[in-house]
Amino acid sequence: MAATILLVIIALFTFASAYKILGLFPYEGKSHFISFEPLLKALAAKGHEVTVISHFPQKTPLPNLNDIDIGGSFSSTGVINLDYLTGSRFQKYLTPIVLAYLGYQSCVSGLSNKNFQNFIKTDSKFDLIISEAFNTECFLGLVNKLKSPPLILIHSCILLPWQDDILAMPSNPAYILNHFMPFSIPLSFFERVENTILYIFHHFVFKLFIDIPGKIIARSHFGSDIPSLTDISLNASVLLINTHFTSSGAQPMVPGYIEVGGMHVETPKALPKHIEKWINESTHGVIYFSLGSMIKGHSFPEDKRQMFIRAFSRFPQRVLWKWEADTMPEKPENIMIEKWMPQFDILCHPNVKAFIAHGGLLGVTESVHCGVPLIVMPQFGDQFTNAKAIEANGGGVILEYRSLDEESIVNALKTVLDPSFNKKAKELSARFRDRPMPPLETAIYWVEYVARHGGAPHLRTAAVGMPLYQYLLLDVITFLSVILFILMYISFVITRAIYRKIFKIKEKVKQN
Ligand SMILES: *[C@@H]1O[C@H](CO)[C@@H](O)[C@H](O)[C@H]1NC(C)=O
Ligand SMILES: *[C@@H]1O[C@H](CO)[C@@H](O)[C@H](O)[C@H]1NC(C)=O
Repeated sequence: MAATILLVIIALFTFASAYKILGLFPYEGKSHFISFEPLLKALAAKGHEVTVISHFPQKTPLPNLNDIDIGGSFSSTGVINLDYLTGSRFQKYLTPIVLAYLGYQSCVSGLSNKNFQNFIKTDSKFDLIISEAFNTECFLGLVNKLKSPPLILIHSCILLPWQDDILAMPSNPAYILNHFMPFSIPLSFFERVENTILYIFHHFVFKLFIDIPGKIIARSHFGSDIPSLTDISLNASVLLINTHFTSSGAQPMVPGYIEVGGMHVETPKALPKHIEKWINESTHGVIYFSLGSMIKGHSFPEDKRQMFIRAFSRFPQRVLWKWEADTMPEKPENIMIEKWMPQFDILCHPNVKAFIAHGGLLGVTESVHCGVPLIVMPQFGDQFTNAKAIEANGGGVILEYRSLDEESIVNALKTVLDPSFNKKAKELSARFRDRPMPPLETAIYWVEYVARHGGAPHLRTAAVGMPLYQYLLLDVITFLSVILFILMYISFVITRAIYRKIFKIKEKVKQN
């Protein structure tokens, strides 16, 4: 705390220039906003004038941070019934269409929101725009309306299949995994076939269900003369991404692709007394069990709940279960339920030995940071990929929710509670934290960098916006093939001529 205050004071005195920054977060995903919010707050604390368009205004107003609340008219955050999520391949293929639908809803309601409309009328000027890149591209029309100040895109999970276009990130489906698929490296032949087809299919999904509808809505709000939304996003200087290669896997990165995974992680705070006491008094440690904010305890299937209770009874560890109901029927002594828990502070308590999670990136990141082994039961979206990556990097194991039984739970628990597994998780944590600069500082640095230089087009490689035939060298390959064909044809003709000559001479010799 003292260090933070000192930093703020130093920042205030050594201040070169304060920038006017617009944060554009039209998608109504609380977990997305949680990963961006620390950056916005830190920028405001450094003295920049930050305006934030989102569904999540600050509860207590902060200096330099002006909220424009566009929430209220539409709510996509319901309770997820696990029985609807079959986890089938087909469902995974179609997830981008669901995302597109949710984005469309956010576009329709957000763009016509009264506060947003009033904001457009004020005609403010900004030095920089930071916008979430997910499924609400329609809002990028605003960038054009505000006279195209430098643009930074920010993304809360691993790259979506079509987002490689933004910075022309190398995205060879031979080894770059699809956001929605539970693949792990190395891919088998048929997985590479599937990965390639999906790569192409998801680009079409983006075009058809996000880009084109987005453009139609954007035009009706920002005027018919705005450029294509794709072109606006190709103008981005930097893409901040909430991942880190130690836990998500290594891949080639262009200079503007900046990994800031762990940005939301702070120093652990003191736990509520009753929770701390429960953890302190567990001589064998604690298993923390939470399936995030969208999957509620009361929608958790009863047969599965019984399996977990029976499995837990076979271990000496105590269990902290995030359960959104006042009571749990026949709750055993070794289980404590709470409706809300300070997850990160719990995970960083040295007595917490395992985390049973759904594989959302925020929870996974917190667990990796604290060095707690994970048991991941992925349900939708990027959770399958996150789970596979965490398993591959030694941070946890996957528990198949669909084929759950007491034995599979017991086996997963046995694996991660083993001291050797704990050691692996601690090693992963050490790798994850070992960076030149902490993630939040990295993000601040690049935001100020882009503002300082009035945009950073020099970070973009020449591949950005390059036509596909050029990028894939199709023209060059065609050209070289034609030359090769001509050369081969010429040598064939010459060889044939020579051969005939020799043949004729031989004939003559014979006849003579
Ligand atoms: C890209 O940015 C430049 C410089 O700010 C601007 O002049 C141009 O109009 C932008 N292009 C698009 C498509 O937004
Ligand atoms: C839990 O243990 C820690 C370390 O031994 C101690 O500082 C803290 O006061 C304990 N908290 C409670 C509520 O017992």
